[in-house]
Amino acid sequence: MTEILRANNLEFEVLGRKILSIQEMALEKGQVYGIMGPNGAGKSTLLKLLSFLDSPTSGNLFFHEEKVSAKTITLEQRRKIAVALQQSLLLDTTVFQNIAVGLKIRKLPRKEIKEKVNEWLKKFNITHLADKHVYKLSGGEAQRVNLARAMILEPELLCLDEPFSALDFPTKIRLIDDFKSILASAGTTVLFVSHDLLEVKSLTDELFILMDGKLMQQGPTEHIIENPNECTRSFINEWKSYLTI
Ligand SMILES: Nc1ncnc2c1ncn2[C@@H]1O[C@H](COP(=O)(O)OP(=O)(O)OP(=O)(O)O)[C@@H](O)[C@H]1O
Ligand SMILES: [Mg+2]
Repeated sequence: MTEILRANNLEFEVLGRKILSIQEMALEKGQVYGIMGPNGAGKSTLLKLLSFLDSPTSGNLFFHEEKVSAKTITLEQRRKIAVALQQSLLLDTTVFQNIAVGLKIRKLPRKEIKEKVNEWLKKFNITHLADKHVYKLSGGEAQRVNLARAMILEPELLCLDEPFSALDFPTKIRLIDDFKSILASAGTTVLFVSHDLLEVKSLTDELFILMDGKLMQQGPTEHIIENPNECTRSFINEWKSYLTI
């Protein structure tokens, strides 16, 4: 297994308050990782640090064993990491143009951009929406565009912050199913923040449980769900009780 990202003694403080304290965390290539925890646990903060959008107060991050920070990251390294957030922040234009924008910035030839956009429209089942303005999309459609826009960059690491949380249940299940098969064929390493055990269970191989800024448990998702520890038991069991309703 190839390790692509490692965090050591990561701490993040805001106004003297310690929000995050992670001793060690490592991501291996091709795995789908979940970060799950209650509201305010520090999930989004951790995702921003691990995707080099923000800098920790102290501690180190290693990308392919090379020490990197939000300040020292090279363009080449930055291009290997894509981030998609909860609010999809799409540009004021068509679906096609939104998905094409990253490749345009990378100055790919027009023909190649067109081919790739068409390929990703197809993978996410949104070919029929290509010329539609993004402001006229439903939440589920917009989230498909958001994910296609990230995946077209063929990132090594895809960081997602609650991309499905605003979607109704059937829409969410359909998108997760499609996304799962897309990920399986792309082999992308994914770091997926969610507070929803159903999403985490269906999408992730490995899980980190974050509570109060600390990693309380980590391991294979199924194992954690079946064997929560002292710290995570009440949180996981509460979720499990909702899933069996
Ligand atoms: N820039 C900031 N200034 C002040 N407090 C912050 C800042 N960023 C995060 N926090 C605080 O840090 C804690 C963790 O926030 P974070 O957004 O990472 O949690 P989360 O697990 O993503 O929560 P949610 O499930 O609600 O999205 C919260 O108490 C939040 O209020
Ligand atoms: Mg959050």
